[in-house]
Amino acid sequence: MMKILAFETTCDETSAAVLEGERLRSNAVFSQISLHRKYSGVVPELASRAHLEKMPFVLASALKAAGVKLPLKKGAVDAVAFSRGPGLPGALMVGRVAAEAAAELAGAPLIGVNHLEGHLLACEFDRGRAVRPLQFPLAALIVSGGHTELWHARGYGDYRILGRTRDDAAGEAFDKVAKLLGLPYPGGPSVEKEAAKAKGVCPDFPRPYMPGTRDFSFSGLKTAVSYYLAGQLGQDFYKRGVRLPPAARARVCRAFQDAVTETLVRKTADAARSLGLKRIAVGGGVSANGALRAAFGRLEGFEVRFSEKAYCSDNAAMVALCALRRLEAGKFRNSLKVAPELADPGW
Ligand code: KG4
Ligand code: ZN
Repeated sequence: MMKILAFETTCDETSAAVLEGERLRSNAVFSQISLHRKYSGVVPELASRAHLEKMPFVLASALKAAGVKLPLKKGAVDAVAFSRGPGLPGALMVGRVAAEAAAELAGAPLIGVNHLEGHLLACEFDRGRAVRPLQFPLAALIVSGGHTELWHARGYGDYRILGRTRDDAAGEAFDKVAKLLGLPYPGGPSVEKEAAKAKGVCPDFPRPYMPGTRDFSFSGLKTAVSYYLAGQLGQDFYKRGVRLPPAARARVCRAFQDAVTETLVRKTADAARSLGLKRIAVGGGVSANGALRAAFGRLEGFEVRFSEKAYCSDNAAMVALCALRRLEAGKFRNSLKVAPELADPGW
């Protein structure tokens, strides 16, 4: 059975995983959230340093849990994979160099994986086993802190971009709105938690549907929230440190979350319908959002797949799985290009 060691360091999670056949033997993740929290967002230089510092421990923990001995011997694993992008350049280098060293020691091929394809394939895990293969063709929505992309996925490695954000990613909008409201980073989970407490009439924010294009735009929605807050609290409310009381804040969270959710669901469904696609798969950090899951669940006429919550945010398990699917297909060119086209899986 094929054993794959994988690395993930695109943003603020340092992760290493071992996949043996379809079974995930380990998936060690060190989250840097506490490091970036006081800046309300990821500071690239701090992220790179933290990856460098934590990688040896994360790798040792992933190998130990999978029963692979250090130092790596020839043949210890059959392939080594890493997220080659998109991501923060300094952060990416750490994963790549670690993967190169591991591949050299193990005498194994090195496979550069597209991180966004990883978010899509994460939908295949069922309690640590990659036993729910995606059925193609499908419409894939990848919603993370750095990306909002809609793909027409015709098979493994065969993706065409239908639309993408023209400004902020969906997760980024959650993070920025949370910051305006004085909620902790990462904004997505904070906003979702507050939204669940909302009672009464919520403000009405615009849905950025952008008719005539399959692209997305979330920065106007963030600005609408900011104007609303300025109207309630006065100009320069943020600088003055004035924040909404909890009940009103919960209503803003609810209204914002509804606007993002409805936009994502409607645009994805419209695109799928126009292409005659019956299946939708949703991945990336924002896909952990319960309201988004529920809204997709209410869509009629589609089979909608999400990844289990444990695999929505960045992890190396999904990177290993991309490598497995590629090895199974036996058609990979060893693409190690540093800055890949977003939808280019490097197959
Ligand atoms: O995929 P991910 O872990 O990292 C990137 O590749 O960017 O996504 C992180 C993003 C953050 O912006 C975070 O606020 C958002 O996913 N997120 C959520 C939720 N959990 C994480 N957004 C909305 N609701 C959530 N429950
Ligand atoms: Zn990601």
